[in-house]
Amino acid sequence: MTKKIPTILLRVGMYVTQLDRPWIETPFLFRRFEIKTQQQIAQIQEYCHHVFIDTERGIDIDIADVPASDGGSLPENIPPNSPSQTSATGQSTVSFEDEIQQALEVRSKTKQVVEHMMEDARIGNSIDSAEAREAVEGIMDSITRNREALLCLTQLKNRDEYTSIHSMNVSILCIAFARHLGLKEDQIRAIGVGALLHDLGKIPFGDEYTEVLTQVRTEQQALIILEKKFLEIDHEEVGEMIASKWKLNAVITDAICHHHSPELALPEHQALVATVALADFYICLFDIGYAGNRFPNESQLSSLLDMCGLQWTTVMGLSEAVDAEIKKAEIFLKV
Ligand SMILES: [Fe+2]
Ligand SMILES: [Fe+2]
Repeated sequence: MTKKIPTILLRVGMYVTQLDRPWIETPFLFRRFEIKTQQQIAQIQEYCHHVFIDTERGIDIDIADVPASDGGSLPENIPPNSPSQTSATGQSTVSFEDEIQQALEVRSKTKQVVEHMMEDARIGNSIDSAEAREAVEGIMDSITRNREALLCLTQLKNRDEYTSIHSMNVSILCIAFARHLGLKEDQIRAIGVGALLHDLGKIPFGDEYTEVLTQVRTEQQALIILEKKFLEIDHEEVGEMIASKWKLNAVITDAICHHHSPELALPEHQALVATVALADFYICLFDIGYAGNRFPNESQLSSLLDMCGLQWTTVMGLSEAVDAEIKKAEIFLKV
């Protein structure tokens, strides 16, 4: 069986069948090979964000052994490539092709809203939360009409605009998870805004942040740990100051202050904040839109899945559905 995995989850003994970039652009001798050393893993990580492995010819991914959450009364896993499972009733109401143009508009509008909010944070203004709510409702509606269209657009990368694109991608994925979990509309709206704002605490950092981002690559550690090490304050703590100045509501504040540690959120918000944390984790793990955090703490994954009530196969099912649609949508992605 072939599986797509982020390169930070590679282990000696896995059999690589495909890279995420043309083989000719890499120094690897063979197109398909078994990983025999840690050095090989480091070299693959240098060139690739994800690869495909054959689990019959080599060992399987550890994460597949993550204990499944019982999920309570939650829906079953999404089978791979199931574009029809979009809304609470499990049906897309419009086709991917019909939704993609609207999804492009939602994406462009949301990007503007996030950029506004980032600018407000930078100059010390308070945010227009009505604008944020409206953007989140646009995402919610698009995902209800057809989940894959907007999820597809999260694959677009633009490193110049990384914070706004990253925040929007986390919000889109978080809303897709929340829809799958069958959360109430007002909860989805609150957590969608929380996801849009979750990394707000990064904004006030100045040029010194570039050095921290460089250290993330060198030390292969989580961004938040290195912020504390080099700047003596992390973006959750800075975010807490901004949230209290802006008097943001409790769910949004918890998403900003605890998206790297949802167990510290208020008990009634932990599952919601964990949904933001899982979306952020996934997007960093697969490097979908640059967030400067290539090495999130993978030991957190199991507890995040448990707190959300999701299973890894569900998360990967979403990803596979999106990948399948991306192939169909290349023409739109070039717009
Ligand atoms: Fe963060
Ligand atoms: Fe983030």
